[in-house]
Amino acid sequence: MNIFDIKGKTVLITGASRGIGKNLALGLRDAGAIVYGAGSRPESIEWMSGEGIQGVVLNVKSESDAFQVIGKIRETHGKLNTLINNAGIATNTPASGFKEEELQNIIQTNYTGVFRSCQAYYKHHKKDGGNIINVASVLGLVGSKLASVYSGTKGAVISLSKALAIEWCNSGYRVNVICPGLIDTEMTDMIKNKEYIMNQVLAGIPMGRLGKPEEILGAVQYLVSDASSYMTGQTIVIDGGLTAQ
Ligand SMILES: NC(=O)c1ccc[n+]([C@@H]2O[C@H](COP(=O)([O-])OP(=O)(O)OC[C@H]3O[C@@H](n4cnc5c(N)ncnc54)[C@H](OP(=O)(O)O)[C@@H]3O)[C@@H](O)[C@H]2O)c1
Repeated sequence: MNIFDIKGKTVLITGASRGIGKNLALGLRDAGAIVYGAGSRPESIEWMSGEGIQGVVLNVKSESDAFQVIGKIRETHGKLNTLINNAGIATNTPASGFKEEELQNIIQTNYTGVFRSCQAYYKHHKKDGGNIINVASVLGLVGSKLASVYSGTKGAVISLSKALAIEWCNSGYRVNVICPGLIDTEMTDMIKNKEYIMNQVLAGIPMGRLGKPEEILGAVQYLVSDASSYMTGQTIVIDGGLTAQ
């Protein structure tokens, strides 16, 4: 028996159009899961149809998208086994320079969106239980320049996950968090594009390099699988040693 087996499990990943989410979608598909990959726009999910991934439009800022998408997955498969809340945005705006619109955009996407998806999943499955994996960040654990609101939303996702783990434990839900460090995706272009900033960043990472999106997959597969059946309310950090210092 392979305790990490996830064959036939239904998984919905938000923000699966590119980066970490795309890599998770492909990796979990390869491991035999039935993967629903969500993007914010129809163009974001076009690539999925030829790759054995069910593409769905789910803008996490919408009040109803998550509820509708999860409802349809339940109708089709009887159950959504795992919800992975991965969609997120970042900026490098100084705290003193935030305008209201940008502030609300990050909070709505990174925090409110995660809460809404969790709530929608619970409403559809409260009698069956479920498994939630929220993608936060090491910047939800430690401070950093030019990351104030982003850090706040990611810290809030970690706290939210602990609270939901307790509140929904008796309903058969597990809620855990993945905290990536700096990963080589479009999100980190703003760092990679400036050599002096990149050098500073690399100097702060004991392994001396950015992580690759595929280095997030193993921990996520563990959380999707029954190998993690006694784990809830916890955070797995994957950061090349950044927060170990
Ligand atoms: N890269 C890093 O260094 C790093 C480190 C720590 C944590 N993280 C976290 O990991 C997650 C994935 O990051 P990434 O590096 O893969 O970022 P990325 O390459 O910029 O991709 C972001 C994803 O989020 C989706 N998204 C953004 N706004 C959305 C919305 N309103 N509704 C639905 N989807 C939306 C995008 O979908 P569309 O293309 O359809 O808009 C895209 O798939 C994020 O939560 C991020 O905060 C990343």
